[in-house]
Amino acid sequence: MTRVAILGAGPSGLAQLRAFQSAAAKGEEIPEIVCYEKQDNWGGLWNYTWRTGVDEYGEPVHCSMYRYLWSNGPKEGLEFADYTFDEHFGKDLASFPPREVLFDYIEGRVLKADVRKFIKFQTAVRHVTYNDDTGMFSVTVHDLPNDREYTEEFDNVICATGHFSTPNVPEYKGFDVFGGRVLHAHDFRDALEFKDKDILIIGTSYSAEDIGSQCWKYGCKSVTVSHRTAPMGYKWPDNWQEVPILTHMDKDTAYFKDGTSKKVDAVILCTGYVHSFPFMEESLKLRTANRLATADLYKGVFWVDNPKLSYLGMQDQWFTFNMFDAQAWYVRDVIMGKIDVPDRDARAADVVERVAREDAGEDDYYAIRYQGDYVQELIDETDYPSFDVEGANQAFFEWKKNKKKDIMAFRNLSHKSVMTGKQAPPHHTPWKDCLDDSMEDYLKA
Ligand SMILES: Cc1cc2nc3c(=O)[nH]c(=O)nc-3n(C[C@H](O)[C@H](O)[C@H](O)COP(=O)(O)OP(=O)(O)OC[C@H]3O[C@@H](n4cnc5c(N)ncnc54)[C@H](O)[C@@H]3O)c2cc1C
Ligand SMILES: NC(=O)c1ccc[n+]([C@@H]2O[C@H](COP(=O)([O-])OP(=O)(O)OC[C@H]3O[C@@H](n4cnc5c(N)ncnc54)[C@H](OP(=O)(O)O)[C@@H]3O)[C@@H](O)[C@H]2O)c1
Repeated sequence: MTRVAILGAGPSGLAQLRAFQSAAAKGEEIPEIVCYEKQDNWGGLWNYTWRTGVDEYGEPVHCSMYRYLWSNGPKEGLEFADYTFDEHFGKDLASFPPREVLFDYIEGRVLKADVRKFIKFQTAVRHVTYNDDTGMFSVTVHDLPNDREYTEEFDNVICATGHFSTPNVPEYKGFDVFGGRVLHAHDFRDALEFKDKDILIIGTSYSAEDIGSQCWKYGCKSVTVSHRTAPMGYKWPDNWQEVPILTHMDKDTAYFKDGTSKKVDAVILCTGYVHSFPFMEESLKLRTANRLATADLYKGVFWVDNPKLSYLGMQDQWFTFNMFDAQAWYVRDVIMGKIDVPDRDARAADVVERVAREDAGEDDYYAIRYQGDYVQELIDETDYPSFDVEGANQAFFEWKKNKKKDIMAFRNLSHKSVMTGKQAPPHHTPWKDCLDDSMEDYLKA
């Protein structure tokens, strides 16, 4: 029987388990599946931990999420087509749920599908190699509680270990003499740590916007955001400024390229993440920038040089959960022989075409539609429930416009589900005044 290894039980790995389970539920014979997950629970980044640095086994902590995190995009853009918010919560919710609510939603689908039995928890993947003679992968894993390494053979490997966990940590002159804390977003856990403080943020993407907003919401004294390329350009509150790139620091002051300076208490590097797969042998290791058209992946998932290996969720992400589903259903159907993969030249040409098409775009609206088209392309070929991808694009467009109007109020507005056709209710409290991010509070009518 074909054996398939799934590496990681975050949203992407769980999408793969659900894809196979849904085929089994229709009476199809599915391969033998083993999923390895290094944490003691599923959910990937959504599985919050207070830990930073290394965990109790000396493993790098995977979690990059923090207390009080609310979804940054509308939930209507990520809803599962086979398991709606309505179905899980018995009612619809406001559009930007906090982390705990989304964790519960992710978990609800896989509990219903009964796929936990396929997962070996607290088991870190150490080495993946491919043997040309046998056509099999050897996957060596570490059973962490028992401190035991062992190797198993598989016909296919699906890598779903995520790519927002290994921080990109640049150094700026003077960090070694600065008297305050310097940390990366990956290690940020609680905005209250920065109450009444002047903070400097480096970077201008989602972590910068959201961590700055969190610190503002929970009472920091001021936010200064330093940009390498361009400012974010939103209408920020009065105690928030955007400045050019940092040149250097001394004991308590940051100096910027335009000659200005600012006394700060802490520096938060919101400088993104790197794709990191230390367990993959050299010939199987994905090296790509964080972009929509990843390097070396046919259809955005299959390793061009050996399509028995696939990578899920490696794109930069507008679409998330339902895009992982689209990929997982497609990968399943290739492994189960329902869809063919073309020869190497055609696979490589597919990557070139995707890169060129992404590069031709000029703005975020193009990028959203580009990724929506990708989701549509994949779901058209499988039995993943079809949904109104263009409707999801429109939800993202509206969300972008709402952010432009008021960056601290976009989460108060609601969007329409493309799965149920219903407009989400507004949340009971404006985001900036809602300090309680518990599920209990969010679900209150
Ligand atoms: C701060 C932050 C906030 C975000 N907020 C949102 C949001 O609001 N909405 C949204 O849609 N998306 C958000 N995202 C995007 C996020 O990438 C996806 O939602 C989603 O978590 C990606 O799922 P994944 O399974 O691909 O990866 P992950 O969630 O990263 O899961 C990967 C899994 O692989 C496991 N793993 C890693 N290495 C190994 C190993 N060697 N051996 C065994 N297991 C391993 C990890 O423990 C983890 O469980 C956010 C990302 C970040 C960093
Ligand atoms: N609430 C939420 O839901 C939430 C919160 C946070 C993050 N996220 C998610 O997390 C993911 C990662 O987002 P991210 O913002 O961490 O990473 P990112 O989108 O990759 O952005 C990285 C940022 O770092 C800057 N940068 C990189 N190297 C730098 C350097 N040496 N000096 C100065 N600036 C540098 C980049 O600037 P340039 O433009 O100059 O390259 C860019 O602004 C996204 O999917 C996002 O949606 C979600």
